[in-house]
Amino acid sequence: MNSINPHPELPQIPALLDAENLRQLLNCELIQDNNIQTRLHIEDCRIIRIKYRPGRNCLITCALSVSTAGGARASDVVVYFMVCRDGESAQVYNQSLSTATISTLFGPGVFHLPSIDSVLWIFPNDRKLKGIETLSDAGKIKNEVVPGILRQFRDGYRIAGHIDLRPIQYVPERSCSVRLDLDLQSGNRPQVEKIQVFGKFYRPGECESVWRALNEIWNSDECSSGLLVIPEPMAFLHQSQSLWLKWLTGKTIDEYDLGSEELSDSLVQMGKMLAALHRLEIDRLPATGMPDIRRKLDSTVDLISRARPDLQTKLLEVAGRLVSRFDSIPVEKNATLHGDLHLKNIFVQDDRRIAFIDLDNICSGDPTMELGSFIAYLYFRGLVEKRDLDQIEKLAASFIRAYAETGKVDPDERSLRWHIAAALIHERAYRCLTRLKGDRFHLIDNLIGLASEFST
Ligand SMILES: Nc1ncnc2c1ncn2[C@@H]1O[C@H](COP(=O)(O)OP(=O)(O)O)[C@@H](O)[C@H]1O
Ligand SMILES: [Mg+2]
Repeated sequence: MNSINPHPELPQIPALLDAENLRQLLNCELIQDNNIQTRLHIEDCRIIRIKYRPGRNCLITCALSVSTAGGARASDVVVYFMVCRDGESAQVYNQSLSTATISTLFGPGVFHLPSIDSVLWIFPNDRKLKGIETLSDAGKIKNEVVPGILRQFRDGYRIAGHIDLRPIQYVPERSCSVRLDLDLQSGNRPQVEKIQVFGKFYRPGECESVWRALNEIWNSDECSSGLLVIPEPMAFLHQSQSLWLKWLTGKTIDEYDLGSEELSDSLVQMGKMLAALHRLEIDRLPATGMPDIRRKLDSTVDLISRARPDLQTKLLEVAGRLVSRFDSIPVEKNATLHGDLHLKNIFVQDDRRIAFIDLDNICSGDPTMELGSFIAYLYFRGLVEKRDLDQIEKLAASFIRAYAETGKVDPDERSLRWHIAAALIHERAYRCLTRLKGDRFHLIDNLIGLASEFST
């Protein structure tokens, strides 16, 4: 494969993508160089997430297994580091010193690693998510978080002992999802009720609008009649910038085999449910549209042209064709869009009913744009799992049929194909390059090839 370094402004990245290399580096730079007294040793390092922000920096999240001298059991520690452009890490570090205040197994919550121009944060210290500091403060959880949730959702209930709060998904500088298990009692009744709550911490100012939209959906006729299902909103805690929702039992539909009957049944249900979401009217949602697609297409073309110069000609041809049709593609009336629709954001409950989760990017826009984006995701999954793409075509067709029958609108075929092609490039190919998962890099050829077919 003819590939050059796709991130020339961050030349240190390739060496950091090797977990064993990273483990050794952290043992030297983080532990030895900082004279950590307790003589810690990183036994294992697993890279769990990478987010390359072209032209700016790269965030790498790792799960470390750390042993202490004489310690019987290794501790699991999650860290992330920001790989900075030449000479920029000192300033980032200095700005973070006063805010990363939670002490950790390593002592401080933030470290400067000058040899790789990086800054490292140890969970729950985070440059943007101040609310997750609560996770290390049992007193705050007991006296502020839980009473705050109960006041809004189970007034009259009190804690009857057990409280367990643990992270289930952490996206540094963006969000942290948690599960809260509680034992509750009400009045002087002796029975203890066990409840589970899903919580999510956001960046400052980001959760009010999501909270408002979730409540509007929850109180809509579509939701009360069961046509649309989301987890019930329970509480919004301003202090910790967190939202709390009913815990659902089940799994996300990406856990189903792409060829399974369960998946195709769920997609039919989901098509119907999406039609119900799209027709909801919610005020003051951020709008998304063709100019956003144009901007994203341009930056993807830039990025891929640098990373894969061998694909530039083909890519320019496809992108050029899409752009030339910009004005002739019919734009539907604005609908309420989920905004981040893929198989990990659709939940199948134990009773097989599906629910939409992760509505953080809810927005208004052309519904065909969301349909195209979702179908592009299905094709991407088909490529990842090396499926026969005819199978994906059938899945997509039955999903669209269910959507169209329920919504009583037939998506315009030409517009749908245009949006599938555009999303294959600016969402799927773009992510293959910014998530830096080695096995995804080679998919870009296929994604551009597919986009070319859809764009003709
Ligand atoms: N209400 C819920 N009940 C149970 N699990 C949930 C709920 N909402 C989300 N999850 C689980 O938590 C994960 C992360 O939630 P999500 O809102 O999708 O966060 P992210 O923005 O990190 O993708 C989901 O993939 C799902 O497995
Ligand atoms: Mg999600």
